[in-house]
Amino acid sequence: MFGRMTGPWVTRAVFPMWLCLLAVCRSIPTLHDRDKLMTLEQFEFTGGNLLSTEKEIRVNDILMKIKREEVAEGMETGKFPPAMHFFRAKQLIEQSRVFDILRKMPKGAALHLHDYALLNAEWLVKNATYLPNCYICFGAAGGTRFHFSLRSPQKTPAKCSQWALLEKYRRQLKNITEFDNSLYRNLTLVTENPEEAYPSQNVIWGRFEDSFKAASDLISYAPVFKTYFYEALREFLRDNVLYIEFRALLHPVYELNGTLHDKEWSILAYQEVTTQFQRDYPDFMGAKVIFSVPRKINNSEMKTAMYEAMKLHTKFPETIVGFDMVGQEDAGHPLWYFKNELLIPTEAGVSLPFFFHAGETDFEGTSVDENVLDALLLNTSRIGHGYSINKHPTARRISREFNVPLEVCPISNQVLLLVTDLRNHPAAGLMADGHPMVISADDPAMFGARGLSYDFYEAFMGIGGLKAELTTLKQLALSSIKYSAMSVEMKEESIKLWLRKWDEFLDKVLNMSMWDEL
Ligand SMILES: *[C@@H]1O[C@H](CO)[C@@H](O)[C@H](O)[C@H]1NC(C)=O
Ligand SMILES: *[C@@H]1O[C@H](CO)[C@@H](O)[C@H](O)[C@H]1NC(C)=O
Ligand SMILES: *[C@@H]1O[C@H](CO)[C@@H](O)[C@H](O)[C@H]1NC(C)=O
Ligand SMILES: *[C@@H]1O[C@H](CO)[C@@H](O)[C@H](O)[C@H]1NC(C)=O
Ligand SMILES: *[C@@H]1O[C@H](CO)[C@@H](O)[C@H](O)[C@H]1NC(C)=O
Ligand SMILES: *[C@@H]1O[C@H](CO)[C@@H](O)[C@H](O)[C@H]1NC(C)=O
Ligand SMILES: [Zn+2]
Repeated sequence: MFGRMTGPWVTRAVFPMWLCLLAVCRSIPTLHDRDKLMTLEQFEFTGGNLLSTEKEIRVNDILMKIKREEVAEGMETGKFPPAMHFFRAKQLIEQSRVFDILRKMPKGAALHLHDYALLNAEWLVKNATYLPNCYICFGAAGGTRFHFSLRSPQKTPAKCSQWALLEKYRRQLKNITEFDNSLYRNLTLVTENPEEAYPSQNVIWGRFEDSFKAASDLISYAPVFKTYFYEALREFLRDNVLYIEFRALLHPVYELNGTLHDKEWSILAYQEVTTQFQRDYPDFMGAKVIFSVPRKINNSEMKTAMYEAMKLHTKFPETIVGFDMVGQEDAGHPLWYFKNELLIPTEAGVSLPFFFHAGETDFEGTSVDENVLDALLLNTSRIGHGYSINKHPTARRISREFNVPLEVCPISNQVLLLVTDLRNHPAAGLMADGHPMVISADDPAMFGARGLSYDFYEAFMGIGGLKAELTTLKQLALSSIKYSAMSVEMKEESIKLWLRKWDEFLDKVLNMSMWDEL
């Protein structure tokens, strides 16, 4: 990487040059330079250098008028959704006219997602748990586990009650709706009083992992696996997302008779469902997988994982596009701990793109906090979150110069207790600086969100503030295609499709009869 580096001074050099173009470089700026400096700031903002068509200018006028009204309303009532916890803000967001427009907007690609949290959990409750042969056990800490089996499963998970056949169990309940609601809470982090339920990052990560286990018990059942994925693609397409990339553990998928399927079976299933989905919905560009392992594993397990990842990427280059590690970053090993294993592909001359989660932490100066820089030194293609990057100007400079984007997931960062008020999200400064980034949803199912629009809302209203305009949204969508792992040809095709959808979207906003009064 450093071989290609022309020097960390480049971005600094660019700045005075722009000032010079605006003829303010010779002396300390004065009040006379105010307009020029404001223009410069606007130009540097994400999307600030995109030109607008006449139609886009008209749509922007409408959008910004509504946006200013909603921000003013938030100031007046003291209820500004990005400043509130998402669990409380969600209903307000759904009433927002900006949100309505964002839902209609073609958002491009969702690049940071996880296998067991793609589709809203209501589907799991209403569909998966109602299938025959579903057993349930109740954990001591308020969690549940599921297993599909012909007979009561032999082993009970640690600290779980006896297995009960759910069909029978439901029959003796007085209020099934209430019970199903409790299952929904088990499968998500959603709760009425999050501050009380989740007093610390460790507590919420414990619950998070518990919910993932419960969801994976259901999703890893072969008859659920494919339908779940199909329905997830539908949820994203309905939200006007045309392509997704997601981290997947490729855990064994099981049959009713106990047969376990291997990783290749899951990959083929993902391929098969995607192909079928694209046949049913030709406006969907596809789905790709970033093979992932828990960051808690040890060096010898990582070595095995590296060889497996190389093998899978070589065998399924169109589907398995790279490698990552998942789990609570503060509680796992730092990237540097795995440096010998992570160098195996390079040393073997085998390509294996990395898509590392890095900097999902509030602790500065710990070994985990070095992950952002190390991810870049290991040639990561994108940075998952990169939440801490502002504390590492060198890493920030490399990320910017070599176009390694951050995958910003606002709702996830808030729910998992990195930041409370999303106006204070570190991406605010990065967006003002036009830093390469994409917006994603991480685990929408766990947070009670759907698709990508809720995170776009938080990014547009909270992180971008009133500076974010239609061009910002356009840039974010275009970036998501640019920074995806699609082939060059597929990117061209996606851009074409996206531009067509964008034009339709502009017309839709102009034609909405509710704007007649404008
Ligand atoms: C899921 O369950 C709902 C409610 O029972 C039903 O309307 C829907 O068709 C089911 N969807 C699938 C994909 O099975
Ligand atoms: C999970 O479901 C069980 C069974 O209804 C319930 O007792 C428990 O409170 C639920 N857990 C949460 C976190 O809501
Ligand atoms: C069952 O519980 C739901 C949710 O708590 C509640 O709205 C409903 O009124 C209850 N139904 C009965 C018959 O008690
Ligand atoms: C188990 O079930 C699967 C799916 O129905 C079937 O393909 C397989 O042959 C079965 N295996 C055994 C050992 O019965
Ligand atoms: C790594 O973890 C595996 C599985 O837990 C264990 O069997 C192995 O002994 C560990 N290796 C080292 C070197 O600690
Ligand atoms: C990263 O890329 C550079 C330049 O292509 C190369 O020299 C270096 O070995 C790569 N590092 C790793 C860890 O793959
Ligand atoms: Zn993630």
